[in-house]
Amino acid sequence: MSWSSHEHLEKNAILLLLLVIVVVSIGGIVEVIPLFRKETVIEPVEGVRPYTPLELVGQNIYIRENCAVCHSQQVRPLRDEVVRYGHYSLAAESMYDHPFLWGSKRTGPDLARVGGKYSDEWHVAHLKEPRDLVPESIMPSYEFLLNNGANLHDLKQHLKTLRTLGVPYTDEMIENAVRDAQTQGTSVGRVDASGLEERYGEDVNARDFDGQPAHLTEMDALVAYLQVIGTMVDFDKIKDVESYGEQEEEAQE
Ligand code: HEC
Repeated sequence: MSWSSHEHLEKNAILLLLLVIVVVSIGGIVEVIPLFRKETVIEPVEGVRPYTPLELVGQNIYIRENCAVCHSQQVRPLRDEVVRYGHYSLAAESMYDHPFLWGSKRTGPDLARVGGKYSDEWHVAHLKEPRDLVPESIMPSYEFLLNNGANLHDLKQHLKTLRTLGVPYTDEMIENAVRDAQTQGTSVGRVDASGLEERYGEDVNARDFDGQPAHLTEMDALVAYLQVIGTMVDFDKIKDVESYGEQEEEAQE
C-alpha cells in the first residue's frame, strides 16, 4: 500500500474502524474456532469409553429425575475434595456426557467417584428409602423405579444421535443396542455376555442390578449407571496424571 493510500485510510475514521474490526476478527476466529473441536481441548485418556446402552438409559433417568440438582459430578483438584472423594475429575472422563452433569450444587455428596463404592444392594435399598440407611437423609425416595420397565424402544436412535455429536458408537453397537441393554441387566450365567464385552470391554458390569432377575427395570439401569461413574480410568496405570495428594506428599518430603 502506497503512503498516500495509507494516509487516506488513517484520515477516514469509519474506514479505519471497519478494517480494524476485520483484522481483529481474523485473529479472534483463528484463536476461537479450534476450541469448538473436542479433540483440541480434551486430552484422551486410556479407559474412557462410551456408555453402554443400559448405562445410557440409567443416565437418562438421572437426568429426568434431576439428581444433578442435589449432586455434582466433578471432583475439583483441591486437597479436601481429593481426600474425601478420590482422584480429581479429568475432562476426558465426561467427554461422552451429553449433556455433561457436572452440576453446581451439593446438597448431597459429589457422585463423580461413586462407581464401585457401594454394592448394588446398597444402592437399591438407598434409592428405595434413603432414610433406611442414612436416618437424617433428605434425599427423596425413588422406590417406583423398581416397578418401571426400562425404556429401550428409542435406544438405537439415541446412540445414533450421540454419534452425530462425536461419541464413537459403531454400526454394530447401534444395531445391538437393545440386546446389549438386556444382556447387561440380566444375571450372567443365564446369558452370553461376550458380544457386550467385545463391544464395550471386559470390565463392563453385566449382572442383575436390582434383585429382580426376571425384569429389566429403571432401577437396573440407574444402578448400572451409578456403578460405572468415575471407574473407567485406572489411575494406578496412568503415570503422567499425577494425583494431587501425591504431589503434596512429594512436596513435604
Ligand atoms: C433433594 C436432594 C437430593 C436429590 C434430588 C437426590 N439426592 Fe442423592 N443424596 C442426597 C443427600 C442429602 C445425600 C446424603 C445422605 C444419604 O446418603 O442419603 C444423598 C446421597 C446419595 C448417594 C450416596 C453417595 C455417597 O457417596 O454416599 C447416592 C448414590 C445418591 N444420593 C444418588 C442419587 C440419585 C441417583 C438421585 C436421583 C435419582 C439422587 N441421589 C437425588 C440428596 C439428594
